[in-house]
Amino acid sequence: MAPPASRVQELRRSILDQVRDFYHEAHEKKEPFVPGKNRVPYSGRVYDAQELVRLINAALDFWLTLGPEGSVFEKRMTRLFGARDFALVNSGSSANLVAVSAFTSPLLERPLRPGEEVITPAVTFPTTLAPILQNGLIPVFVDAEVGTYNIDARLIEEALSPKTRAIVVPHTLGNPCNLNVITRLAERHGLYLLEDCCDALGSTYGGRLVGTFGDLATLSFFPAHHMTMGEGGGVIVNHSRYLKIVKSLRDWGRDCWCEPGKSNTCGKRFDWQLGELPKGYDHKYIYSHIGYNVKPTDLQAAIGLAQLDKLPIFAQKRKENFNKIYGGLKPWEEFLILPRHEPEADPSWFGFPITVRAPLKRSHLVDFLEARLIETRMVFGGNILKQPAYRDAPHRTSGSLSQSDRIMKDTFFIGVYPGLTAPMLEYVLESFEAFFEKKI
Ligand SMILES: Cc1ncc(COP(=O)(O)O)c(C=O)c1O
Repeated sequence: MAPPASRVQELRRSILDQVRDFYHEAHEKKEPFVPGKNRVPYSGRVYDAQELVRLINAALDFWLTLGPEGSVFEKRMTRLFGARDFALVNSGSSANLVAVSAFTSPLLERPLRPGEEVITPAVTFPTTLAPILQNGLIPVFVDAEVGTYNIDARLIEEALSPKTRAIVVPHTLGNPCNLNVITRLAERHGLYLLEDCCDALGSTYGGRLVGTFGDLATLSFFPAHHMTMGEGGGVIVNHSRYLKIVKSLRDWGRDCWCEPGKSNTCGKRFDWQLGELPKGYDHKYIYSHIGYNVKPTDLQAAIGLAQLDKLPIFAQKRKENFNKIYGGLKPWEEFLILPRHEPEADPSWFGFPITVRAPLKRSHLVDFLEARLIETRMVFGGNILKQPAYRDAPHRTSGSLSQSDRIMKDTFFIGVYPGLTAPMLEYVLESFEAFFEKKI
């Protein structure tokens, strides 16, 4: 016999109270930051008891697969972006795979076909590019810009050919691309547009959230990003023609659009007559795409819901940290190129990119900072064509990639994430000062 509901509620309450206590004992930071002894991370998880409570609460429900928490998360994200839909997936990479694959769907009037071209910057993240190749499409590389680290939008027009069908652009390190130029070109030439917003949740352009401009846009919830659920990502669906397509590709390629745990949403589960299938073949087992299963679990979604509540504070803190670093590095502009953004953009920065000016060598500065336990990172793959995996991939290059090469050689970034404290930022700025004073 099942225990009475009140006993279950009482046990749940007592477990969750203990989880809160556990958080305060085991996770809450109590030690002050010691410069040179503790690391200054470039990024990391920022959470409190709420994430643990929601995770354990969902674990007690033991739904496991994507379910009620995921549905609430998807609805909140759809509202946040004023989108048509939002599909939660298990990573930003999966989000890009699903989104690019969606452009090839036979359910579209003009699907992308193998051999057709997709414009994308040479400075990119590997799994922003990989789905273009995995779908048999040809990437056309355009140079990136030092300073914004985005595709140089002025060069896109001359990269177009009769085979060009889509533009795939990451908003690098949270800095919005020139969406005026890009959306105008996409409209004028009938190109599909995918915004990779994996680093840019909360950034705006012309007062509008990035992720609302493309046909589709993607997010990552890996711990380094603006919010986390461990592993996780999502596809923002901005046009009704992709509604069935994106979730079908995520969910094994099935034709059925029932929510998890539901059956017969269409009201004719055993009534469909599609293709050469026997009439009435169960809609749950009809496949309209060659798909994937890239769903996360409900446990991840539960963590995501707690993080979502903190998003405005996270975005604010990232901006404050960025501005503090910018002000502190301004005196060293003779040696460093500081980041810039489009006039219409208001970035929620993922990191603080820095390009060294000759004769300064990036390795000298990076080694100095790392020795002081200040974490640094490169701008992802740099000029991706120089990477072993992509060197021989089918592609076309439009114009020179000299700025992408320069970014690969001279650029790095440091953190601005909300977990950085005032003493950490002071230490970072003091370290730059120490480096340049020694040099001068
Ligand atoms: C621009 C960009 N796109 C895609 C991804 C992939 O996201 P994930 O690590 O969740 O697969 C990342 C990861 O950092 C990224 O920076």
